[in-house]
Amino acid sequence: MIKTMDWRGNVLVLLDQTKLPDIIDFIACYDYRRVAQAIRSMEVRGAPAIGVAAAFAMVLGYKEIRMHGLSGTDVLKELEVFKRELIATRPTAVNLAWAVNRIWDMAVKANINRTIDSVDILESAAVKIYDDNISNNVKIGHFGSELLSANSTVLTHCNAGALATCGWGTALGVVRQGYADGKIKMVYADETRPLLQGARLTAWELEQDNIPVTLITDNMAAWTMKTKKIKAVIVGADRIALNGDVANKIGTYGVALAAKALNIPFYVAAPSTTFDFKMSTGISIPIEERNGDEVRIFRGKTTAPENIQVFNPGFDITPHDLITGIITEYGVLIEPYEDMIRQLARKLRRNIND
Ligand code: MRU
Repeated sequence: MIKTMDWRGNVLVLLDQTKLPDIIDFIACYDYRRVAQAIRSMEVRGAPAIGVAAAFAMVLGYKEIRMHGLSGTDVLKELEVFKRELIATRPTAVNLAWAVNRIWDMAVKANINRTIDSVDILESAAVKIYDDNISNNVKIGHFGSELLSANSTVLTHCNAGALATCGWGTALGVVRQGYADGKIKMVYADETRPLLQGARLTAWELEQDNIPVTLITDNMAAWTMKTKKIKAVIVGADRIALNGDVANKIGTYGVALAAKALNIPFYVAAPSTTFDFKMSTGISIPIEERNGDEVRIFRGKTTAPENIQVFNPGFDITPHDLITGIITEYGVLIEPYEDMIRQLARKLRRNIND
């Protein structure tokens, strides 16, 4: 399994996902601005991966500020600018703000207490976010695999795999574990227009691991579900509201509607860092709107009238009543989601205070 990122103390090395699957190339980010650019341009993408990359970006930013000789509140003033810039890079995935705020809180505490080794503290916190992401994905994989029956054919949308995380993946973590447990015989991967995360990344990632995968275009999903005996749909998430509404890659909502109509279980796999406990429903989740050229132009070739008006939302919201279960590192949440998500929030608060 290829690594999406590698922290080397003073540099964050990112796998350039815009070039996959043709070229395997890496970007060395020596300052937080280069990481911000990588997140914006989707060289690194996927909710957990951008969160962790942004945490390391905060560490790079903090080191830079300290090198300029600033101290106390001046450090925090500068760091707050970096924090805002990083959070604004991509608005939908809440993991990003979560990770940045976590490092920010530590910086505030360290500066108030005038902690001498504050750089080390921040760095260890970012490394822990990275490590926790992998171990949580493995737990998600185990809980998810238990939901599947032997030799199932499943369908997934976008890429919620090792490439979207620090390793193993969420939806594809379930697939990996399910395959190891003899639960999965085939994965259908939606190509995921317009940026083709399904075709370029999911198909590639599963093929690398010798997991049987069949690529389909997005408009084939409903028919594939009906005719290929799909036993479950498993997707990732960018943000989950308190009532269980889920923001994920554009097209997820349509897949969920088709799954409901065909009586196929629809699962969302996501770590607790993807929950936004302050957002009561999905309606308020900010949806990133991307450049229309992503739809007008395909791999450098114009495929629509040059100036045609385009609507290009990067994500959609799947209402909780279409979701059979949300697979987290703490277990599977089911309706009534609001009760279960509040319980999860309490558990996380207890863990932080322990
Ligand atoms: O625009 P992207 O490629 O960052 O979107 C990714 C997705 O929508 C994933 O499904 C989501 O981030 C979950 S990744 C574990």
